[in-house]
Amino acid sequence: MNYMLNLHPFITLIKKGEVVAFPTETVYGLGADAWNPTAIKKIFATKGRPTDNPLIVHVSDKRQLSQFVQTIPEAVHNLTEAFWPGPLTIVLSKKPEVLDLITAGLQTVAMRMPDHPLALSFIEQTGPLVAPSANTSGKPSPTKAQHVLNDFGADFPVIDGGPTKVGLESTVVDLTSEIPTILRPGKIGKKELEAVLHAEVQYSTDSRMLVPKSPGQKYSHYQPTAKVFYMKPSDFSDNTLYLLQQTPDEYSKNIISYEGNLELMSHELYDRFRQADLEAYSRIVIAPIEQFESAFPSFYQALANRIQKAVGI
Ligand code: TXA
Ligand code: MG
Repeated sequence: MNYMLNLHPFITLIKKGEVVAFPTETVYGLGADAWNPTAIKKIFATKGRPTDNPLIVHVSDKRQLSQFVQTIPEAVHNLTEAFWPGPLTIVLSKKPEVLDLITAGLQTVAMRMPDHPLALSFIEQTGPLVAPSANTSGKPSPTKAQHVLNDFGADFPVIDGGPTKVGLESTVVDLTSEIPTILRPGKIGKKELEAVLHAEVQYSTDSRMLVPKSPGQKYSHYQPTAKVFYMKPSDFSDNTLYLLQQTPDEYSKNIISYEGNLELMSHELYDRFRQADLEAYSRIVIAPIEQFESAFPSFYQALANRIQKAVGI
């Protein structure tokens, strides 16, 4: 990671109402000043994102929560104490002055403090930023600066922090429902949340959200151009990229094996999706991961959710 990187040109862009891509520990975000509607509109235009899909507000300090959130329940203190900075987004009741552009007209706002030194230093100097993942809508989230440039053009302003650590987007938990509800599974899982909240946490019953509580869930996300299949392969062909858990006898460069390490698979998944498209594979075959659930419960849930969306079932 380049700690010597000069953030000033990027800070100036944000202050002028432009958008800038920056690294977080999950995926790269496309940031804009959370109080500047013209800048926020540029996010939707750049991504081709539907405006009924709300954005996460990123802060560098827990005290900034009160700018956006009406009342801060005790549970939030416990969660931020345990998991911030980190890959946890918390949905709370919003203050009236929070822009409708951010919340898509909902009465709630999603808040997160990313665990990345460049992101924290950047936000400290710009103020809170709204930031969706920095990809063209419908493409896999970017886990490298190069992914952002591939989507938005070689001259696009991106703060290069190297590959992101986690590789899948943050866990989104809704604290405005009676039972805290995981709207999007991520590295921080149900058990870890329950241990801190001393209360039951539920997954949203329909992970595809036909009646969307988290509007983003209704869009088909994370889809590479190559067709994705979730099955055990019976033979191997050249036009397919294989993401397996056990190395087969016949080794070949289009066969990748994670040996049950779902954390490593999460870290790489989107890069592999993008690789498949760059190298013009027509199919991606992903072998089942169920047998590794107990070893990696939260990564299992997060991967299953992203794979399901990529397969389109
Ligand atoms: O890891 C992450 O969360 C990354 C990095 C850049 O921080 N960001 C990210 O943003 O994944 P985005 O916009 O790609 O996904 C945000 C998700 C969407 O599914 C959206 O619908 C949901 O959070 N969301 C945002 N505000 C919400 C709200 N008020 N209520 C329910 N869901 C909300
Ligand atoms: Mg996204």
